[in-house]
Amino acid sequence: MRRKLVAGNWKMFGSVARNASLVRGLLDGLTDTPAEVAVFPPALYLQQVVGLVAGRPVLVGAQDLSPFAEGAYTGDIAGGMIKDAGARLVLVGHSERRHGHGESDALVAEKFCAAQAAGLTPVLCLGETLAERDADQTEQVLGRQFDAVLNRAGAAAMADAVLAYEPVWAIGTGRTASPEQAEEAHLFLRSRMASHDAMIASSLRILYGGSVKASNAEAIFAKPNVDGGLIGGASLVSGDFLAIIAAAS
Ligand code: PGA
Repeated sequence: MRRKLVAGNWKMFGSVARNASLVRGLLDGLTDTPAEVAVFPPALYLQQVVGLVAGRPVLVGAQDLSPFAEGAYTGDIAGGMIKDAGARLVLVGHSERRHGHGESDALVAEKFCAAQAAGLTPVLCLGETLAERDADQTEQVLGRQFDAVLNRAGAAAMADAVLAYEPVWAIGTGRTASPEQAEEAHLFLRSRMASHDAMIASSLRILYGGSVKASNAEAIFAKPNVDGGLIGGASLVSGDFLAIIAAAS
């Protein structure tokens, strides 16, 4: 039985004051839930948020990391630093990194390995663009993005990782994949994993991301291969995020 995970990707939003009030709202409303909850604040606020959630069942993760352990890489943040700040997870390959910062499949694979080397659980984001979906290339793109990491890290590495299927056309657009479209992509990824290791495939959590809201979360989370969500915009309003967590319960 896979435990559902509901993760809030704050992207480049927040301030010391806003983070404090967002986390307070979340913690005040968080009741006993079978789902795991995580938040991904901007790196600068990791320590603050780790402190705010101390003793409560909320995991903290970073949104990106360097592929290198340390060195002369001005502006970059190493996995060891993220771990040192008290975070446990890190996103790799978010489409805003792949497409906005030109991150290649190979670089994403290096980052995935760097995360695990630092003792962090990577949340590997994958997804096709609208042009790729319209050209019927969704599975080809997902397969390529997944294989790049699997070939570099090895199939066993997926035992301590989470996948997030995030169709690029659904991120921040208000246009969500239908539960059926999400299920189809998740099943494809799980089968791909199963061709290497069936045990890992059956325990691998695959989140859906892209315009998840309180109103559509339940139908998406109800699909058998959807193990929770990666939530952007709606995670910045504690009431909305709590409703999505409830939908996963
Ligand atoms: P969204 O973002 O929920 O605002 O569409 C999801 C994500 O980018 O992780």
